[in-house]
Amino acid sequence: ESGKLWGGRFVGSVDPIMEKFNASITYDRNLWEVDVQGSKAYSRGLQKAGLLTKAEMEKILQGLDKVAEEWAQGTFKVHPNDEDIHTANERRLKELIGDTAGKLHTGRSRNDQVVTDLRLWMRQTCSALSAHLRDLIKSMVDRAEAERDVLFPGYTHLQRAQPIRWSHWILSHAVALTRDSERLLEVRKRINVLPLGSGAIAGNPLGVDRELLRAELNFGAITLNSMDATSERDFVVEFLFWGSLCMTHLSRMAEDLILYGTKEFSFVQLSDAYSTGSSLMPQKKNPDSLELIRSKAGRVFGRCAGLLMTLKGLPSTYNKDLQEDKEAVFEVADTMSAVLQVATGVISTLQIHRENMARALSPDMLATDLAYYLVRKGMPFRQAHEASGKAVFMAETKGVALNQLSLPELQNISPLFSGDVSHVWDYGHSVEQYGALGGTARSSVDWQISQVRELLRAQ
Ligand code: ARG
Repeated sequence: ESGKLWGGRFVGSVDPIMEKFNASITYDRNLWEVDVQGSKAYSRGLQKAGLLTKAEMEKILQGLDKVAEEWAQGTFKVHPNDEDIHTANERRLKELIGDTAGKLHTGRSRNDQVVTDLRLWMRQTCSALSAHLRDLIKSMVDRAEAERDVLFPGYTHLQRAQPIRWSHWILSHAVALTRDSERLLEVRKRINVLPLGSGAIAGNPLGVDRELLRAELNFGAITLNSMDATSERDFVVEFLFWGSLCMTHLSRMAEDLILYGTKEFSFVQLSDAYSTGSSLMPQKKNPDSLELIRSKAGRVFGRCAGLLMTLKGLPSTYNKDLQEDKEAVFEVADTMSAVLQVATGVISTLQIHRENMARALSPDMLATDLAYYLVRKGMPFRQAHEASGKAVFMAETKGVALNQLSLPELQNISPLFSGDVSHVWDYGHSVEQYGALGGTARSSVDWQISQVRELLRAQ
């Protein structure tokens, strides 16, 4: 006797190396609570189908509550023979209530059981991650609102491009995260579908009412095909991809902040709470929090790519390869939870140096506005671009700032220049021109803030 729940047809014992290789209990014990939840619902289904008497069901339900209690109190003893959380819980149930426990798995397979457990676990996790992500977005919007009159250089190609509001930069990242937040809820919707009652592959032959199971476990819908239900892991891939994309956004924001925190930029200063020192150089204060946010993207992408590779080319339907889904999910969930909370801390405690931001603005960043000045006087944009470019060249050749060219010098380039060109050299005036929705003018930044707040409320 092998001591396994599936031991009937076996005579030889399993190599200890294989035993360890095959087991998932070291990590799928995370599923203890949802496994009990799923089993309780299933025993209700069995009772309704006439496969358990009311007394037997009560006995099983009480036994399962006891199993859960042991897990919760840390007294559940994992047996060396326990392969995974499903076999461990059933083994313990039998010890507690005797042979009635053997009726629980009637018509059920670990194939529909494990995927039910995983969906239940991920449904909870998505809600928790969604709350963390919303906290982060909220902390960004709060900052954007409080600091919307701070101007600083906007960069393309990491070259000075145009003056923008600091809030416009914050919101550029917050807006990307709102899509991640929306995406997570969509993924959750597809996670929230019940596979239980699919058996190993062919379905349930004993008349279990899947609608009852759905209602018991509060799923939004029921899977359509038992073969698909027990073997598809799209919902896992979607979750891992959600993490990958969200990490892409967070790593880009982290990179900007790392750069803006260097002495060379000195736009921002990370709070001590999210920095570390050097064991050798006493002056150092390193942005480890942001570097780790940037780097963890690699780990999450790796899990996503890794599971896709595992799934590609698998024959229908359940294969043990699918056991590999869980470590990916647990690792990505833990990583995202930590990253989102640290990012919220970094953003809400960051100090900004407004004077340095203002000092970094330079008149050459207004060359585009100089062209628009001529456009407003009736010149076609291509000519205006050329004329402003000539002014930039003239200033560079003379070794003066763009706004130091005299009116006669500008008029030499185009007679359309007159005294009012002086307005162009005002940074505040510059940003206020960009008033079309989505631009960096105050009215548009306010609009963005209210839109993001509205999205958060509606989700
Ligand atoms: N531990 C397994 C998993 O994670 C449970 C399902 C096992 N099913 C089976 N037919 N061996 O996928």
